[in-house]
Parts: sequence; structure tokens; C-alpha cells
Amino acid sequence: MTTSLETKMLAKIAAASDTGALETLRVEYLGKSGSVSALLKSLGAMSPEQRKADGPAINALRGAVADAIADRKAVLEAAELDARLAAGRLDLSLPAPPRRAGRVHPVMQVMDEMIAIFAELGFSLAEGPDIEDDFHNFTALNFPPRHPARETHDTFFFPPGPDGERKLLRTHTSPVQVRAMQRTNAPPPAPWIATGSAPPIRVIVPGRTYRRDNDATHTPMFHQLEGLVIDRNIHMGHLKWTLDQFFARFFELESVVTRFRPHYFPFTEPSAEMDVQCDTSGGEVKIGQGSEWSEIVGCGMVHPAVLRNCGIDPDQWQGFAFGFGVDRLGRLKYGMPDLRDMFASDTRWLAHYGFSAFAAPNPASGLS
Ligand code: PHE
Repeated sequence: MTTSLETKMLAKIAAASDTGALETLRVEYLGKSGSVSALLKSLGAMSPEQRKADGPAINALRGAVADAIADRKAVLEAAELDARLAAGRLDLSLPAPPRRAGRVHPVMQVMDEMIAIFAELGFSLAEGPDIEDDFHNFTALNFPPRHPARETHDTFFFPPGPDGERKLLRTHTSPVQVRAMQRTNAPPPAPWIATGSAPPIRVIVPGRTYRRDNDATHTPMFHQLEGLVIDRNIHMGHLKWTLDQFFARFFELESVVTRFRPHYFPFTEPSAEMDVQCDTSGGEVKIGQGSEWSEIVGCGMVHPAVLRNCGIDPDQWQGFAFGFGVDRLGRLKYGMPDLRDMFASDTRWLAHYGFSAFAAPNPASGLS
């Protein structure tokens, strides 16, 4: 009985024209209520003698059918794959799926732009530590002890160390001026930290700075870019020319109108803030036109006391220094309304205000 059944089933399996038809046969024979499954189940109701007689044949039938289905399946699947490959075409004109690319943060973009411009003007780069001591951040820069000028910086202090010294988060990049001027025999605390050199000195110092401040135009961590020039016969005219050159290039204008406004810093004398002519009447800041002024950079002639504190003879050498707020400058150029958003790590903000990596100028090659 099982042999004719087997012949019939195997013939049907061999004739199955696709994997769908084969699956229907599999369910029909070997599924829960399939015909071969029914025969297997019938074994349970047989007498032991009959089971002994029919059992091997029924089991053999199940094995033969299962093998035949597996073999036919392999053949059909291979044929179907061949057919798909033969019929299908690779469409190379389809757009590639979008790839999420990183963005350059506007602060880093602005710093790179500034570095490239100052590199062209002959400045080299100096760096210093974010954690400073009182000497470099204040004392060497002519802040008298317990002078109210120290309070204007709203300093973040660390708890005093074993020697009673309180380290601090630098409140400005000016301590790196001191490091650039001081010639000591001591090795630098880290390889990237400026060691002093003899004048002439022409350095810029980009970096993070910290003050207890938090509103739309102040964040507790912000970025400055400091400049220092020490040479013979240096005067305010050199300072003005350098900053005017910088502004014209940075704002991509023929020239900009600037003015010095008297100011006070303990480490410069005279001290000034430089303003750039601008127009805010249209709701956004336009540099290089209008009748308003935007305050941009603190600057002045290096105070003789600072030169002396750093071992430089003020009767031989003079210099100027300036300190930009990088984030503020970025806001002026690229128009972000709230400074705090810059450091909120919101990728939607970055996608909007960030720059593609290709837009960043390479400081080593200058501006192209
Ligand atoms: N260090 C000053 C500040 O943070 C800026 C400055 C730098 C002013 C250099 C003059 C010269 O406010």
C-alpha cells in the first residue's frame, strides 16, 4: 500500500513547479493533519503485531517524502534565484541612502577662520592650561592682591591644596601671554603648553575660559582668542592696523570702520575696547555699514609691570595685546540668537548652524 502511495507522492513532489506549490504538498503530506502524519498516528491504535508489520514501511514513507521535499526545495530555490538574477537589474542611477555626516561646531569653525587669518599675518599659535594658578591668571598680569578687579572675573576656584594654594579655572586667555613671555628653565607642565621665548614675540592663543555667568550673552564656559606682539617701537598704530586687517578679512569686506573706546584692564596701559561699525536696524547685525557700534575686542599696550613680571625690559621692548570673545564673534558673523544654545549639545541646532567639514579652512595652508 505504502509503495504505490509513495510513488504517487514522489511524482507529485517532483512535478511541483515552484516553492509555493511544494509548500502546499508539504502541508498536505507532513503537516499536522497531513496524510503521512495520519498514517503515523494510526500506528498508536494498532495491535503490536500489526505495528511491527506496518511501522517500518510508514516510517520509511515519511523519510522518503521528507527527503524528496528537501531535495526538490533546493532545486526550486536555486532556479528561482537564477531567474531573479537574470531578470533583475542593478540601477546605479538610484540615489544612495542619505548618510548622516558630522558637522563642525560654529565655535571651532570661527576659531579656525581666526587662526588662518592671524597665521597669514605672521602669528604663531600658543596654548596654556585651563587650570591655572593665581600668579599666571592675576598677579603677573598686574592685578593687585585683593583688588576689586579680581572680582569682576567671577572666578571658579578649586579647594585649596596642601600648600594652601587655590588653583582656578582660567578666567581669560591672558595667562598664556605670561607663559609665552616667561623664560624659565622648568619644563612645561604638558608638551602643548607654550614655553617662553625671547622677543620679538607674535602669538595668538585660542582657548576655553571660565566665569560664573549664565544668561543669553554669557555662558560659564566660553572661548577667547588672545593676541600678543612684543617688539621694539611697537605702538597703538600697529594694534589698530592688525585689528582692522583682521576684521576686514573675517567679515569678508574691503575695509571696516573701527574705533577705540577707552577702557580699563590692569595688564594694559592704555587700554581700549575696539568697536566695529554696524547696523542693527533690520533686526540682524550688519557689519561695515550704519551708524551703530558693536563692541568686539578688549586690547591695549602691554603694561610695563607685566613685561617686568615676565622678565622683559620695558625700556627695550613694548607690545600690544588683544582678547576676543570667539563665541560672540561667531554670533555676530553667523547670527545665533542665544549664546547658551551653542553649548547645549542639541544636534538639531548643530545641523542648522554647523558647518560641513570641507568648509573649514586649513590653518596650515592659510586662507585660499
Ligand atoms: N583678558 C581680557 C578679558 O578677558 C581681554 C584682553 C586681552 C584685554 C588682552 C586686553 C588685552 O577681558
